[in-house]
Amino acid sequence: MTQSFSNRLISWYKINKRDLPWRNTSDPYKIWLSEIILQQTRVNQGLPYFDKFVSHYPTVYALANAPEDQVMRLWQGLGYYSRARNLHECAKSIVNDYDGKFPKSYQELQKLKGIGKYTAAAIASFAFDESVPVVDGNVFRVLARYFDISDDIAQPKSFGTFFNIASEIIPKDEASNFNQAIMELGATICTPKKFDCENCPLSEDCIARIQHRQSELPIKKKK
Ligand code: ADE
Repeated sequence: MTQSFSNRLISWYKINKRDLPWRNTSDPYKIWLSEIILQQTRVNQGLPYFDKFVSHYPTVYALANAPEDQVMRLWQGLGYYSRARNLHECAKSIVNDYDGKFPKSYQELQKLKGIGKYTAAAIASFAFDESVPVVDGNVFRVLARYFDISDDIAQPKSFGTFFNIASEIIPKDEASNFNQAIMELGATICTPKKFDCENCPLSEDCIARIQHRQSELPIKKKK
C-alpha cells in the first residue's frame, strides 16, 4: 500500500506539476531562497520576489556582501521581516563559516539561522537527494486524510508522528520528487475546503474520502 502511495503520487506529479523556477535547479542557494520566501507566502506572491532576489544576488556570496538596507528594501511587501534579516545573516554565515558552501545534511542544515526542520528537509532532499521528508501544512493534510490520522496537528508532538509516517513511505531514490509531489497535491488537489478527490491519484485508498470525512481531517484544535 505504501508503495502504491508513493508511485501513484510521483507519477501524478510528473504529469501535473507546475513549472516553478526553483524546481529546475539543484542549487541549494536557490532552493533555500525559495523556501524562505515561500514560508507564510503564496506561490504567486512569492514568484516575483524569487526572480528579483536571484537577479540581484545570483549567489550566496552576492547576498552575503549586499548592504542590509538593500536586502530589506527588496523584501518590502512580503512581511515577516525577520525572515529577511535571518536570510542575510544566514548568507553571511555560509560565506564566513562554511566556505560559501551549504552544509549537505538535514542535521547540519538545522544549525543555520532561520533553517528549521522543514527548510532543512527541503534543502537536503531537493539539492542533495537525502531521503528525509518535509512536513508542512500540506503534508499534514494529505497524510491525515489518506491514513485517517486523528492526532491534533496544533500539538508540537504531532510533527514527530507525521514525520515518522512520511519517513516510512518516502522512497530512498526519489526523495526530492516525493516531497515536491506531496506538497503539490496538498496545494492543488487535497486542499482544505474544495478538495478535488475526482482528480486525486490517491483517492482509491484514501480513508477520509471513503468515509466522507475529508472536511474533518486534519484535526487542529484551538490552543
Ligand atoms: N511552498 C513551499 N515550498 C514549495 C515548493 N518547493 N514548491 C511549491 N510550493 C512550495
